Amino acid sequence: MRTLFTGGTVVGPEGSQQADLLVDGERIAAIGRDVPHSDARVVDAAGFYLLPGGIDVHTHLDMPLDDIRSSDDFQTGHVAAACGGTTSHIDFVIQTKGGSLRQALDTWHARAEGKACIDYGFHMTIADPRPEVLEEIGRLPEWGITTVKVLMAYKGRLQLDDAQLLAVMRKAAEHGLLTMVHCENGDVIDVLERGAVAAGHREPKYHALARPSALEGEATGRAIAIAQVAGARVYIVHLTCEAALDQVRLAQSRGDSVFAETCVQYFFFTADDLDRPGFEGAKFVCSPPFRTSRDQEALWGGLVDGTLSVVSTDHCPFNFATDKAHGREDFTKIPNGVPAIEDRLIMLHHAGVNGGRITLGRFVDVTATAPARLFGLYPRKGVLAPGSDADIVLWDPRARRTISARTHHMRVDYSLFEGQTATGAPIGVWVRGMQVVDENRFVGQSGSGQYLSRNRVRQ
Ligand code: URP
Ligand code: ZN
Ligand code: ZN
Repeated sequence: MRTLFTGGTVVGPEGSQQADLLVDGERIAAIGRDVPHSDARVVDAAGFYLLPGGIDVHTHLDMPLDDIRSSDDFQTGHVAAACGGTTSHIDFVIQTKGGSLRQALDTWHARAEGKACIDYGFHMTIADPRPEVLEEIGRLPEWGITTVKVLMAYKGRLQLDDAQLLAVMRKAAEHGLLTMVHCENGDVIDVLERGAVAAGHREPKYHALARPSALEGEATGRAIAIAQVAGARVYIVHLTCEAALDQVRLAQSRGDSVFAETCVQYFFFTADDLDRPGFEGAKFVCSPPFRTSRDQEALWGGLVDGTLSVVSTDHCPFNFATDKAHGREDFTKIPNGVPAIEDRLIMLHHAGVNGGRITLGRFVDVTATAPARLFGLYPRKGVLAPGSDADIVLWDPRARRTISARTHHMRVDYSLFEGQTATGAPIGVWVRGMQVVDENRFVGQSGSGQYLSRNRVRQ
């Protein structure tokens, strides 16, 4: 089937052009003026932007956490992502202690099987780097995985010590993989959390107070130093604050292969949101926590000057009425994570582009092109060009959306952005040439999403 988008503005990181865009089957066939298009279905894109489909490289769908799991699975999460203009994502497989990487990967593949409606890849979280597991890291590329993740927080669960970080990073470097790091000093956080609880400080706001930004800055600097020793390329996930940004900027100025993302919600909320009346603050509990308005300014600066390459979501939704409620008496029992997979493009465009902070090209870069380049999907994804997958977002810069849990597609009972109105939204979305969204309504098919086997990237 052929589809011709006529008269739209085709947007890329370097700028935009007025052009027609022809899709043939799953790929983009041509971009230009007067493209021959006999027998093609015509979509009038005049007055709209054509953007490459968004790529969210940090998600946790159907993620087990003790006796609960994140509330979106690979069907509901994909529907929501698509409705928000995201056509691909990379989710974190999490190795179980005592288990192998292959077992964990099979478990995650089974979770997506028959449900996926957008394309998806996996990162591998190393939780138990036994010698045989370190050896198994070398097999990840043949399974389509070119990124490993390690955590410096969540003591007693996922946290690795410095020697383990070094061992994983060395292996990753040996096999040309990118190491992603959750940077917070878990040992000190553990002491602060216990101290807060012992002192009777049980409310959600103590989650932020027990995880100060200094501990994210420290861990970020330490991760970068260990990576330097290991000769590894690193990518700092969900960076939230000036202290961490300074470490990344310093490393980049030395020429180190250090990259970083932030998540869209960190531009909108501060630690004050964890102190909303009653237990409302639990809706805003994630790690690292929301910071200060000064940190938000620093993040915008990092997005503009290129210190930050990517804006993702860390989408990890838990229902307020049931899951978040586990921590009513003790903030350390509130499941960490927030919903955002559907809101990323709309809210970043609104605050960033409409707000005069970033250009439309930079918006496309941090939400699609840079993620594709860094994570081994480019030029198949992340760009509108002949030969690329026809992952296309028809974006109406004048459409107004009021965000609400009553109308969003994420399977979670609240929205971080409840009641906020944004201008600019996707009004049509195509994944590999197949339309999946029409006017904020999902029209795709479960099971049509494909697993993305990713390439190694050397930069
Ligand atoms: O609070 C968060 N971010 N939960 C998800 C797991 C992680 O740390 O990325
Ligand atoms: Zn994390
Ligand atoms: Zn995460």
